[in-house]
Amino acid sequence: MKDIILTGDRPTGRLHLGHYVGSLKRRLEIQNKGEYEKFYIMIADSQALTDNFGNVQKVRDNVMEVMLDYLAVGLDPKKVNFFIQSEVSELTEFTFYYMNLVTLSRLERNPTVKDELKQKDFNNSIPMGFLTYPVSQTADITAFNANIVPVGDDQLPMIEQAREIVRSFNNLYGKTLIEPKAVLPDNENSYRLVGIDGKAKMSKSLNNCIYLSDEPDEIRQKVFSMYTDPDHIHVQDPGKVEGNTVFTYLDVFSRPEHFEKFLPEYKSLDELKAHYSRGGLGDMKIKKFLNEILQELLAPIRERRKEFAKNPDAIMKILYDGTMEAREVAHENVIKLKTSMGINYFN
Ligand code: TRP
Repeated sequence: MKDIILTGDRPTGRLHLGHYVGSLKRRLEIQNKGEYEKFYIMIADSQALTDNFGNVQKVRDNVMEVMLDYLAVGLDPKKVNFFIQSEVSELTEFTFYYMNLVTLSRLERNPTVKDELKQKDFNNSIPMGFLTYPVSQTADITAFNANIVPVGDDQLPMIEQAREIVRSFNNLYGKTLIEPKAVLPDNENSYRLVGIDGKAKMSKSLNNCIYLSDEPDEIRQKVFSMYTDPDHIHVQDPGKVEGNTVFTYLDVFSRPEHFEKFLPEYKSLDELKAHYSRGGLGDMKIKKFLNEILQELLAPIRERRKEFAKNPDAIMKILYDGTMEAREVAHENVIKLKTSMGINYFN
């Protein structure tokens, strides 16, 4: 059996480098290999509403922004089925039946949800929609029979939850659903690219992002403000590479040809790291190098994005076509689901 792949993003802001290394790159590889039956990318607007229900306009506006980022990095509507979550109403049906298979305490144990709750300050009045979004995420995956879900490691608890629901469903009602598998990025530093402050994951709410759409000046300014080694005061001082954001980024983004092109006095990252550790290599030099690399990566993405942005109607058409197709599949599958449960009265 060929794979059915599904993944998605909440449209709450433009996509950034963390998204790029954590998931977009992997998606491009999958797309370009082309060894799948179907590849869905969902814009999870309903899920975004679970903690933005008071700001629908923001979510709505970001559907377009996220779609522009997808196309800008090279995801191709001929190879990928893009759709909008809220426009596939069957997903709420799946969710409703899956709710019976999950307990409140199980939902409260989800480590990613726990982290998010801490950040969000719901003050003990947790909206049910937010607490149960992992159940709706199970619906997103199973409504399309997806067996592969490429995600960042913060999404592993969601996939685990999905697997549990699938097992419960199959045990109760007979084998109907497929247990999905997560695929993670291959570079460990990409799992959660740290923000430019070096503190935590790159995240819009922490204001530590480099966006795919950033202009050259913004990129340069952000790179030069990056957290390095606070004890590396004079160029001659030995510097720490561990936990030094610039080196974390170089681990992720630099390739041998970048040295030839931008920093020919070093042959490899190991050599650069050794010099920095020893002392005698200033932060400016490594920041300049990283800036060159990121500028080169982001320039074509930014330019393509501007081109696509000239024609929003064409973008909406891509989403419309993809959503209609997704609806058909989800509809067929919800009938199968209900038939397994024995709540098919009229067929
Ligand atoms: N939870 C994902 C995120 O925060 C978005 C998402 C919604 C998703 N449904 C999904 C990802 C299904 C993979 C599969 O970005």
